[in-house]
Formats: sequence, C-alpha cells, structure tokens
Amino acid sequence: MVAANWAPDSWKQAEARQMPHWPDADALAEAERELASYPPLVFAGEARNLKADLARVAQGKAFLLQGGDCAESFAEFHPNNIRDTFRVILQMAVVLTFASKLPVVKVGRMAGQFAKPRSGETEVQGDVELPSYRGDIINDIGFTAEGRVPDPKRMVKAYSQSAATLNLLRAFASGGYANLQQVHAWTHDFMGRSPWAAQYRDVANRIGEALEFMAACGIDADSVPQLKTASFYTSHEALLLPYEQALTRQDSLTGDWYDTSAHFLWIGDRTRFEGSAHVEYLRGVGNPIGMKIGPSTDADTLLRLLDTLNPAREAGRMTLISRFGYDKIESGLPPLVRAVEREGHPVVWSCDPMHGNVVKAANGYKTRPFERILAEVRGFFAVHRAEGSFAGGIHAEMTGQNVTECTGGAVAVSEIDLADRYHTHCDPRLNAAQSLELAFLLAEMLNQELQERRKAAA
Ligand code: TRP
Ligand code: MN
Repeated sequence: MVAANWAPDSWKQAEARQMPHWPDADALAEAERELASYPPLVFAGEARNLKADLARVAQGKAFLLQGGDCAESFAEFHPNNIRDTFRVILQMAVVLTFASKLPVVKVGRMAGQFAKPRSGETEVQGDVELPSYRGDIINDIGFTAEGRVPDPKRMVKAYSQSAATLNLLRAFASGGYANLQQVHAWTHDFMGRSPWAAQYRDVANRIGEALEFMAACGIDADSVPQLKTASFYTSHEALLLPYEQALTRQDSLTGDWYDTSAHFLWIGDRTRFEGSAHVEYLRGVGNPIGMKIGPSTDADTLLRLLDTLNPAREAGRMTLISRFGYDKIESGLPPLVRAVEREGHPVVWSCDPMHGNVVKAANGYKTRPFERILAEVRGFFAVHRAEGSFAGGIHAEMTGQNVTECTGGAVAVSEIDLADRYHTHCDPRLNAAQSLELAFLLAEMLNQELQERRKAAA
C-alpha cells in the first residue's frame, strides 16, 4: 500500500536536522541524478523476507542480531575487514542459535553505514573552527578546511563501496564461507587458543557434539543446503536523505516504494522527533524500519510515532532499539514497554548497549567499558522478563579486527591499551574477542529464557 500524501521527496517539506550544507547545488543535483540512474542495491522482495523474519522475532519465535561498524570509511575499505566482521557475526549467530533454540536473524551494519549525526555543526581545535566530520559519504575526517567541505561526489563513491561490500557478503553467505561446520570450527579454534575461554568451552563443545551427531545421522552440508548457506541482511541509519531518496524505487511487483540502499533502515535518536523529515521519508517506504529510543523518549510521543510509521500495525515493520545506559535502563524502559504492549503495537524489542555507555578515559580516548555494556544487556533482559515482553534482539557496534577501543573483557583491554589500536572513525567498537564473549554471555541469558518458557509450558 502506498502511504497517503507521500512522495520520495515529501520529506523536503518537513524539518530535516543533521543535514550537511553542500555549497555546490549543481554538483549535488548531478550526484543525485547519477545515483537515481544506478541499479538498486537490494530487491524489494528481500526487504519483505526480512520483514517476515522480524515478524517472527516480534512473536518470540526468532532472535535478531544486528552488528557492524559505527561508521564505515573509505580508508578501511578492504576485503579482509568485510570478511572478518562477517565472520564474527556468524560466530555470534551460531552461539545464539544454539542457546536460544531459535533462528537468528542476521543483519549487518554494513554496506551503507556511512553518515553520522553530530552534536555540533562545527568542531574547534586550538583556535581553528571547521565544519564537523559527518561521515565519509559527506566530508573528510582530516581536520582541514578543504576536506571538511561537503562533497556530493562522495555519495557516488559510498554507493560503489556499498555495492562491492554487498557483493562480497552475498558471495560469502551463499558460496560456502558461511558453512555451519566451518563457522563452528573457527570458534572452537579461537577458544582453544584463549585461556579466558574456559568458562565457555562447555557451550562450544556441545555445539560441536550436536553437529557431529547430526552428521552421523546423515544431516550435513552436503545433504542439507541450509547448513551451507546463511541468510544475511544489510542495514544503516537512514540519515542522508538525498542519498536515500535517490535510491528509492517503486517495486514492479507490488507498486510499493522501497529504499533500495539496504534491507533495513533506522532512525537515530537525534532525528526521531515528531515532524522530522526522517520520519516523513521512512513512513512511505516498505522496508522494515528501526527506531532508536532512550531517556529522551516519552511514551505518548513514541505511540504517535508508531502510528505514523506503522499505521497498519504490521508485525516486523518496527524494531525499537533501546539505548538508555546501564544505569538508566531499568527505570527508563518499562514505561515505554508498557505503553507499546498496551496499545498492541507489534514491535521487535532490541537492545543497543553501546550508545548510552560512552565514557572519556583519563587519557582522552572515548571508550565504552565492557562491564557497562553487559550490565545494560542484563537490565534489558530483566525489564522484559518483568513486563512479560520478549527481549528479541541485540544491536552492537563491533568489528572483526583486533582493535583496542572498548575497555574490559576477558582479554582485558585497559585504558592505557586504548592508544595501541584505536582505529574507529566514530564510536569505539567491540573487537572480535569481546564480541564473541558478548555472544556467550547473551547465550546464558537466552538459555535461561528458554528454560523459563519450558517450565511455564510444562
Ligand atoms: N541457514 C541457517 C541460517 O542462516 C543455518 C546456518 C548456516 C547458520 N550457516 C550459519 C547460522 C552460520 C548461523 C551462522 O540461520
Ligand atoms: Mn555509533
């Protein structure tokens, strides 16, 4: 169904925050024309498949794992980076599938996650003031007057990088790299080399035994193709509206509009107010949509936004991604859960334990203590258990690289270590070991949920 009074550019009548000011209007129009003539990156039918998968999450029959870079960059564009992040997401997914006994819907913050909202229009260093860095799709991270001028050609470059990234992800997902046996072997191998992993070895061994048992029964990647291929989707924050608009296409099968830059798009904390151009844009596309919620969200506004974005109350359409901070989630989330559940809006409840837990280390680095990330996840499960709602997903900023950006974890990264390999273009990310450790801790919580449900059913 096409939304009433909506067009791909109707957002231009609304208040668009966080938008760059391109000085050269002709160059912008040229880039938009070029993008509009390029092939879509995803097909509408794929977005509908993801929506159906997320509808199962909303019903408590699947779990959502969304993860990847805070911001992708032109500099870090390398097949090994794509491969390593994809591999860690798959490893996490295997552990979570085993623990929850539910299918895991895998969504990357990849192949399009370039634009960043900023708290200030400008950045000051010494006595120099320049426009803020807004992501490689807009301007350059280097602190030079020239580099910080928004350049529309960067949108075309970001499109090309997204297309190449997505192509590799599709190849990995369907070409044999995602073979379950293989993914488990990596985890097993990784655990074998890590002294910290003793407490998780039991889970890893049980996954291995389950696979061996199935193989002995004749169920392996040769006989069952689902074991050889993984479903995988892409997502990013739909922040840069001219870019999203240029990739908005009408589906030839249904006549509906889709944002074909990714399967799943979300609205950030800074752009999800009523009357926002970002809300106006996303209400008209058929993709599954996420919305960040946090301490500044009040229940009535949230309900009105849900009515705007999902008037038909279609399950799978809306994912609410909470990011309160470890010390605020248990007081802040329950009123929102109660309001949404009372109104009968079918949503996926997902936990972003990253964005509410940023601290500045003594040496000036922006970091996230691993214990606080875990504490927010624990709070998230506790709230949903108490409210009788389903804790359906996790949203993490992570990388397959061995970076030192978040402190803590079993292979402890200290504040001193942050300087070693701090590569992020934006927020601090979990490294491969921390991501896997998060998955094992989540597994414990999901397994507990499973036991509770079995008890309740018995
Ligand atoms: N095809 C299933 C899925 O995508 C099982 C699977 C195959 C899988 N390879 C995987 C699950 C790797 C997680 C990770 O869920
Ligand atoms: Mn971020």
